[in-house]
Amino acid sequence: MNMTDAMVRLTVEGRSIAAPAASSILQAYVHAGQTLVARVGCMGQGVCGSCRVMVRRAGQPEVKTELACETVVEEGMQVAFIDYLSPSIQQHFYRIEDIADSWQAPRKLLEFFPEAPHCRHCGGCDSACPKGLDVQRGVNLAVEGELAAAGEVFDECVMCNLCTLACPEHIGPNHLGLFVRRMIANLSLRPADLMRRLEQIERGELSVDLNAPGAQPPGSAKP
Ligand code: SF4
Ligand code: SF4
Ligand code: FES
Repeated sequence: MNMTDAMVRLTVEGRSIAAPAASSILQAYVHAGQTLVARVGCMGQGVCGSCRVMVRRAGQPEVKTELACETVVEEGMQVAFIDYLSPSIQQHFYRIEDIADSWQAPRKLLEFFPEAPHCRHCGGCDSACPKGLDVQRGVNLAVEGELAAAGEVFDECVMCNLCTLACPEHIGPNHLGLFVRRMIANLSLRPADLMRRLEQIERGELSVDLNAPGAQPPGSAKP
């Protein structure tokens, strides 16, 4: 971040803060001296889905859901973080290894996600998704048994849960997508390199270099 950037003023969690114009909302929050102890995981990589926020831009009536680490601040923006879901949201329990072959896959999907065919095509999940995924299409492909295509829709899902929050039928689109992707992986041959590497680890042939770059991140205890 270039600290010579023009500054903008925005409201985050009810506090008025100033930040360089090129900052993400997360960077702006830290720049303003706030401490991040929750709602952040990957620190700005856009992959953990933890930094969900509601954003309202100046002069715009609608509220959007976005990721704070991927959204650039704007003058007059209002931001509120969204907490994790309560446990009362529909839970899905399954053992992926119990799905022994792909003939079972469509039937098992409807068994574990019986609410999935109830999609009312409201588009709430599409509007909520900060990654711009065709969530509704993914749900409906899965219900139709088009599992490979459904898995591709959710390839870049970061499990932020915003689509689940938005769904009036409690479908849990991201959890359905994860189930499909797990099922596909479980029913597919693993990459040869991965299998060889796991065998090497099992035979004790791979040593761990604790002095390798990244093995001792700053602040971690020495062995
Ligand atoms: S599909 Fe759902 S959980 Fe995945 S990124 Fe989009 S809103 Fe988040
Ligand atoms: S929010 Fe739920 S009901 Fe609406 S389109 Fe998405 S999956 Fe269907
Ligand atoms: S901090 Fe991980 S997605 Fe934003």
